Amino acid sequence: MIDYSKIRITKLSTETIHLIEGFDCGIADLNEFLSTDALGYLDGRLAVTYLLEYEDELKAFFCLSNADIKVNEEDMKEFDKLGKHLANYPAMMIGRLGVKKGEQGRGFGSVIIEHVLGRAVLHANEVGCRYLAVDSLNEERNIRFYEKNGFKRLVDRKIKTNIPMYLDLLKIKD
Ligand SMILES: CC(C)(COP(=O)(O)OP(=O)(O)OC[C@H]1O[C@@H](n2cnc3c(N)ncnc32)[C@H](O)[C@@H]1OP(=O)(O)O)[C@@H](O)C(=O)NCCC(=O)NCCS
Repeated sequence: MIDYSKIRITKLSTETIHLIEGFDCGIADLNEFLSTDALGYLDGRLAVTYLLEYEDELKAFFCLSNADIKVNEEDMKEFDKLGKHLANYPAMMIGRLGVKKGEQGRGFGSVIIEHVLGRAVLHANEVGCRYLAVDSLNEERNIRFYEKNGFKRLVDRKIKTNIPMYLDLLKIKD
């Protein structure tokens, strides 16, 4: 069981970059992004990276950006009721998410989704943002993780390595 009082989520910056030393989530691309690109993405306002520490040790990281996404036909019908039908809908995007090897399956990834949902709901009060979105790796385990956390797949898009998924922020209870 995770003790929530021992979780700290902070923004990656030149002050916190030392925390990532030796971090390995098992996916080389994600590790490389964190060690090589994340600060540059922050400077360029392309993505903000956050670090999750538990008991003062880095356990996971994730990135947030704005995005516009496609949704399934059934969800678009909701917008038709307003007389609107957009090609894309505003979203907050979890760009990258990695939990440290040896710590996966303990609930840290789900804690991050819960945390991001809270942020997205607040953000949506200030800037139009209807969905939380992610491009999941096309691996059964990853898709299950997001489905377990309330995301559904965008069905009508053929993507081989990634599956776009989204979660409706209006369906989140305060
Ligand atoms: C995918 C990932 C973010 C999930 O975070 P997590 O903290 O391991 O997941 P949680 O403990 O909150 O949830 C566990 C559920 O996630 C799924 N899962 C996906 N990858 C898993 C893994 N490596 N280990 C355990 N569970 C995993 C399982 O369905 C599990 O549910 P179950 O226990 O009912 O089988 C994490 O495992 C990870 O970083 N993996 C490597 C990097 C990666 O794939 N990043 C995602 C890119 S889209």
